[in-house]
Amino acid sequence: MSRAHGAAHGKVILLGEHAVVYGAPALAAGIERGATATATTLAPGEASRLVLGGDTILADPASTDDRARAFAALLAEGREAPSVLVEAASELPAGGGLGSSAAIGVAAGRAVASLFDPEIEGESAARAVAWERIFHGNPSGIDTAAAAIGGCFRFTREHGAHPIPVARPLVLAIGWSGSSSSTRTMVEGVARLRARKPAMVDKSIAGIAALVDNAALAVEAGDLLGLGRLFDLNQMILAGLLLSTEAIEDMCATARAAGALGAKLTGAGGGGSVIALVGASQSADEDASAAMILAAWRAAGFSGFVTRVGIPQGV
Ligand code: MEV
Repeated sequence: MSRAHGAAHGKVILLGEHAVVYGAPALAAGIERGATATATTLAPGEASRLVLGGDTILADPASTDDRARAFAALLAEGREAPSVLVEAASELPAGGGLGSSAAIGVAAGRAVASLFDPEIEGESAARAVAWERIFHGNPSGIDTAAAAIGGCFRFTREHGAHPIPVARPLVLAIGWSGSSSSTRTMVEGVARLRARKPAMVDKSIAGIAALVDNAALAVEAGDLLGLGRLFDLNQMILAGLLLSTEAIEDMCATARAAGALGAKLTGAGGGGSVIALVGASQSADEDASAAMILAAWRAAGFSGFVTRVGIPQGV
């Protein structure tokens, strides 16, 4: 019996979700919370299975369970079809906009690849992409990139991920809207809107691309006030694409009123998570400011946590 482990980050999309599906750039970052997986060889011929969140799922390309098809796709991507047990765990809410499925796919892909194909470069990434395609249909690849590399980066479908230097660490309050959403459904919703109103959606995508380019400059320059305004503008465009909800709008407004420099949904929208950019003020350092945002969310019935993205240049 052989055994191998894999781990991966969760992610936040800072700006650019959905537009990135159509080739526009997006800014994202890996976060500390993520997923882990352990792969153990089984006797040849034994059915491969995935243990996840208390469920045992057999690899089955014909199953109606996305997880069974995704696991089968992850295994089929390799050089051989191994008999393997994968035990995975995620610290991220499923359907929460923080890249839970990608993190599980990357962690499981890493564990399986290092068990069976350790010498093949890119093997774990290919397995993770095969997994993710089952859940998202037409993923841009930004979630699996964040899960794999962490850090803060600019991403396009064409060129992949390019790390960007973060002049001042970004302190983000991440809040849970209370309901999950399906990325596939939300991406399909934008595609339907685009079929009905192509000019409107294409202008929104171009607008988001411009915001992302400015946001990359703001991150590199440490311009947190500017970045916060760009969060708010991106949120307005996402709401125009019918991706926001009452709870998300409520959380954004609550965070801004509690001192956030900007706030927006992150990920697919339609539920999931909100990010609020935390800034220090004369009376409160960043930790105290973040605590105020979390307290305001709590008072409004929403939970959240704080994460830091990027380390100062030269450190
Ligand atoms: C989901 O985290 C991000 C989306 O842009 C979909 C994708 O890029 O694959 C909504």
